[in-house]
Amino acid sequence: MRLKNKAALVTGAASGMGASIARVFASEGASLVLTDVLASEGEAVATSIRTEGGEALFVHQDVTREADWQRAIAAVLERYGRLDIVVNNAGISGGLPDRLDVAAFDRLMAVNARGTFLGMKYAIECMQDAGGGSIVNVSSISGIVGQDFVHMGYNGAKGAIRTMTKSAAVQFGPAGIRVNSVHPGIMPPMRTSQTSADPAIRARVLAGVPLRRAGRVEEVACAVLFLASDEASYITGAELVVDGGLIAV
Ligand SMILES: NC(=O)c1ccc[n+]([C@@H]2O[C@H](COP(=O)([O-])OP(=O)(O)OC[C@H]3O[C@@H](n4cnc5c(N)ncnc54)[C@H](O)[C@@H]3O)[C@@H](O)[C@H]2O)c1
Repeated sequence: MRLKNKAALVTGAASGMGASIARVFASEGASLVLTDVLASEGEAVATSIRTEGGEALFVHQDVTREADWQRAIAAVLERYGRLDIVVNNAGISGGLPDRLDVAAFDRLMAVNARGTFLGMKYAIECMQDAGGGSIVNVSSISGIVGQDFVHMGYNGAKGAIRTMTKSAAVQFGPAGIRVNSVHPGIMPPMRTSQTSADPAIRARVLAGVPLRRAGRVEEVACAVLFLASDEASYITGAELVVDGGLIAV
């Protein structure tokens, strides 16, 4: 039980990697608050974790709204009396047909970059008072390299997550707070994927992946688990790429 006695908040936990992170955390003994804008899907993930004997509560949250962050953190403290881990995973896809759309740029920055900043702000304020904690931010290989089928606002937002992670690690390390980022590669398409869900584009990109396949959500969840846990107690400001070797080429 690598997360026994730890209370964790996971955003975007209604589907995909967030749901997998929640399940893996629960299996390692964490007490969870799951958040998402998708209420019924999020409730279903929390219910299935409880059915399997885990501890999970769903809270509706839009990560772009400060009031929602205050409510979500308050729910963790009320239910568990502590906050040890925050995973900023919620996000929207940059796999959009119009790669120069301005409204898309604004949305990508609002959800993916600002949402993660707010998550760190409210986590840090709470963890500082408690003497420490661990934050894991889900970026992407798109935060490190460019791709021809991705809106540059997605790269910009995921790049912002990568460098904000390092800033937060430097600024709040003395308070005992570790902050790291995880960078998935080609995974199952996001709910909001368009071009990045196109089978022809996926086949072309996957041909360049040294492990010759897409990643599985639990493979990212295990990387997040490691960084969140005390096994990574001397790791902060680090970026962990989970991409089958794609950007090592
Ligand atoms: N799927 C991929 O290929 C891939 C690759 C690299 C990185 N990522 C990143 O991994 C993370 C998880 O993506 P996924 O693949 O599980 O996609 P997904 O679409 O299945 O999950 C994203 C979740 O975030 C939620 N969400 C969206 N906007 C929100 C908001 N404003 N407030 C709260 N929740 C919100 C969605 O409802 C959804 O449940 C994202 O940050 C994504 O950018 C995905």
